Amino acid sequence: MSATSFAIETRGVTRVFDSRKGFLFREVSRTEALKGVDLAVEQGAIFGLLGPNGAGKTTLTKILSTLLLPTGGRAFVLGHDVVTDAEWLRPRIGLVLGGERGLYNRISGRENLRYFADLYGLPTAERERRIEEILERVDLSSAADRRVEEYSRGMKQKLHLARGILHRPQVLFLDEPTIGLDPKSARETRKLVRSLVADGVTIFLTTHYMFEAEELCPQLAILSKGRIVARDTVARLRQLVGGDRTLEAEAYGFEDSEVSALRRLPGVSKIIEEEYGPRTRLTLRVRTDEIRPDDVRALLPDHPELEVKERRTSLEDVYLDLVEEEAH
Ligand SMILES: Nc1ncnc2c1ncn2[C@@H]1O[C@H](COP(=O)(O)OP(=O)(O)OP(=O)(O)O)[C@@H](O)[C@H]1O
Ligand SMILES: [Mg+2]
Repeated sequence: MSATSFAIETRGVTRVFDSRKGFLFREVSRTEALKGVDLAVEQGAIFGLLGPNGAGKTTLTKILSTLLLPTGGRAFVLGHDVVTDAEWLRPRIGLVLGGERGLYNRISGRENLRYFADLYGLPTAERERRIEEILERVDLSSAADRRVEEYSRGMKQKLHLARGILHRPQVLFLDEPTIGLDPKSARETRKLVRSLVADGVTIFLTTHYMFEAEELCPQLAILSKGRIVARDTVARLRQLVGGDRTLEAEAYGFEDSEVSALRRLPGVSKIIEEEYGPRTRLTLRVRTDEIRPDDVRALLPDHPELEVKERRTSLEDVYLDLVEEEAH
């Protein structure tokens, strides 16, 4: 037992994968999936982990949920070491990994849940009532007695979720919980996640959907190539990348001198230039309220086709800025 009061805490967690390939599997390739991850998640919070494909999100989720051993560092969930106290932790945590694995296809959704309820040691008297309640909660009641092999991808995802919360875990790990769900089911899943938090469950969630992270997670971390590159609230991350406001100017190409003039405007922290077919878009990250679309227009008088828009810096902007910086 450690002195940590956080629901989840990691200290310098690393994970290396050695895999063999080539002639007679003589070549060993080493992947450093996690290169020293430090995180802390308060009890009862929803914590979001974002990051590009291969960043290490699933690896970290598996380590925290005792499925995978770290190579180095330490990780604690509910104050208990995920390596030495795995047995203690397992009944108290839930894990939802997306995909086909982990469900029994030949039996029904309800029978799957009965199997896992028994595995988790749920008393038989409570079992049926709990399964009914959970099926209702994930909107699978009407399909409960059909074999899982007949389920759509979204239905399987809901059954994974049902399985993950069946035993009332105190900490729930969700790895891309809404992947493959239609918009209505994804929204219901987010609602379910919020209701779990209202019940006091701590949630650790990975997602590729920026709006989902923004909507659900007061605290976020961005993982890139096995390292945490930022960790904060969305509001503070916006400041970190250079401002709350974003202006977009689109025209049929800009001169370097025009871009330089925009760069000299006070409060412009960054300009990203992208080609969109025949048009070029300049995205300006703005720190202050002083710069307005008209100031941008005034510096680009030779473009009758110019369009300038103002919007709030989105989490997607922040994410792309930070992940791009990391790549350089
Ligand atoms: N069992 C394994 N053996 C070898 N390498 C692995 C294994 N599992 C993961 N990796 C490697 O570790 C790195 C991190 O993978 P991980 O699945 O954690 O990424 P991720 O952030 O979840 O990506 P995605 O967004 O695509 O789900 C990748 O380079 C991956 O190839
Ligand atoms: Mg993953």
